[in-house]
Amino acid sequence: MFTEKIVFALVALGYLRFNSSEFFWVFQFQSSAMVNKPNETMRVIITVFVGFIFGFFIGKSFPILPLMKLNMKSAFVHDSSIVGNKSTGGSTQSTNDISSSKNNTSYSTENQNMNDSSKIWVPSNPKGAERLPPGIVASESDFYLRRLWGKPNEDLTSKPIYLVTFTVGYDQRHNIDAAVKKFSENFTIVLFHYDGRASEWDEFEWSKRAIHVSAKKQTKWWFAKRFLHPDIVAPYDFIFIWDEDLGVEHFVAEEYIKLVKKHGLEISQPGLEPNRGLTWQMTKRRGDCEVHKQTEEKPGWCSDPRLPPCAAFVEIMAPVFSREAWRCVWHMIQNDLVHGWGLDFALQKCVEPAYEKIGVVDAQWIVHQSVPSLGNQGQLDNGKAPWHGVRERCRQEWKMFQTRMADAEKSYYKAMGIDPPNFTDHH
Ligand SMILES: *[C@@H]1O[C@H](CO)[C@@H](O)[C@H](O)[C@H]1NC(C)=O
Ligand SMILES: *[C@@H]1O[C@H](CO)[C@@H](O)[C@H](O)[C@H]1NC(C)=O
Ligand SMILES: *[C@@H]1O[C@H](CO)[C@@H](O)[C@H](O)[C@H]1NC(C)=O
Ligand SMILES: *[C@@H]1O[C@H](CO)[C@@H](O)[C@H](O)[C@H]1NC(C)=O
Ligand SMILES: *[C@@H]1O[C@H](CO)[C@@H](O)[C@H](O)[C@H]1NC(C)=O
Ligand SMILES: *[C@@H]1O[C@H](CO)[C@@H](O)[C@H](O)[C@H]1NC(C)=O
Repeated sequence: MFTEKIVFALVALGYLRFNSSEFFWVFQFQSSAMVNKPNETMRVIITVFVGFIFGFFIGKSFPILPLMKLNMKSAFVHDSSIVGNKSTGGSTQSTNDISSSKNNTSYSTENQNMNDSSKIWVPSNPKGAERLPPGIVASESDFYLRRLWGKPNEDLTSKPIYLVTFTVGYDQRHNIDAAVKKFSENFTIVLFHYDGRASEWDEFEWSKRAIHVSAKKQTKWWFAKRFLHPDIVAPYDFIFIWDEDLGVEHFVAEEYIKLVKKHGLEISQPGLEPNRGLTWQMTKRRGDCEVHKQTEEKPGWCSDPRLPPCAAFVEIMAPVFSREAWRCVWHMIQNDLVHGWGLDFALQKCVEPAYEKIGVVDAQWIVHQSVPSLGNQGQLDNGKAPWHGVRERCRQEWKMFQTRMADAEKSYYKAMGIDPPNFTDHH
């Protein structure tokens, strides 16, 4: 019907041009076409009028501009999906451009973000956090305990600047209790429990302010890799990663740190009282000095007096790392080589020059009591005592670590296209 068409047209016009003076011209034109049928004219005029009002309100409630935008956007989405399918024959050149940049997602997001300045993209943020405004990024953490109430900025009464961790079983609690008392309030204390008895330590007053991490039958280096990420322990100047069987009668942590700072040691350990079964000359305590950085070993043991085990060397039972040295060492620890054997020979790769920055503190010294505790948590195997299997694995891990390190270095030098320096490892 003609009338319906007019109504439809006017609704549309009212919608599109509800605030335009052009409408009146259109209205007059349409009306004048109707005059020859007088009894329909009134109907048309009324319908037109109602239609216009209707259109006007639709137009008002859905303004033109956003709608047009929406249409253009959906058209674009449609376009690019066809483009992605590579089925358009038309503009081949631009098609390829778009699809190849779509292919490379990191490139295309970066590009988009660079052009759209209202979107945040901060390349200097930690990897993966580029979309955040730098002011909100908290890339480091700590072990400071907080309360559940009050103002967050009033939670902490002190911020320890050093960290000590012990990997412990409950049977060694008295030894650990004695050790912890040698560490001042400046230390955060973390206990890694390998026997699952974490809650029983509350008999000690200091246990309440310690952090307890429990995982059954895991080693010190397993814990260290998983819970001492450099970004987590970032507030601590020095990190002690100690075994549970150390006698600390002649040791005071604050004094130790003074000496470490004085002698510029990035990686260190207290001297070991030469009581029994000492393996390395380097870590043996000397009575005549504060600190030593070099030693003599049995003939043929050191290919170079500045390399392990004659220098640049401490053992893995009681190492102390500066924040910077730990950041490097953490990255070197392998997730599967849980005993850490061989790590001591590689520590020198993390500081430069290693023979200056790795040393043994003689004035604050400890006794290695060699309590075979975690070793007894192994498996009974073919009637052999559990510690046999553990010891065997330690040796294997040492070999594997050496091989991995050597391979990694080789492939680095190969990739760089340079000859590796003369291979200088121990024996
Ligand atoms: C993409 O191509 C396939 C096969 O040629 C076709 O079935 C599909 O419908 C296409 N998709 C689009 C969005 O064009
Ligand atoms: C997209 O990436 C794949 C593999 O990542 C590659 O084979 C392909 O050639 C790339 N396509 C374009 C158009 O760059
Ligand atoms: C993606 O593009 C960027 C910039 O052109 C380039 O550096 C990068 O290697 C590309 N990545 C892939 C996987 O093609
Ligand atoms: C986006 O930025 C790149 C370089 O930053 C420029 O080459 C490109 O033309 C820009 N694209 C748009 C749509 O502005
Ligand atoms: C804690 O560290 C600060 C700063 O190094 C030092 O002044 C203070 O004496 C230390 N506290 C103890 C108990 O040694
Ligand atoms: C490597 O060793 C060879 C022989 O032992 C020696 O001639 C050469 O100078 C050494 N190269 C370096 C970089 O030390």
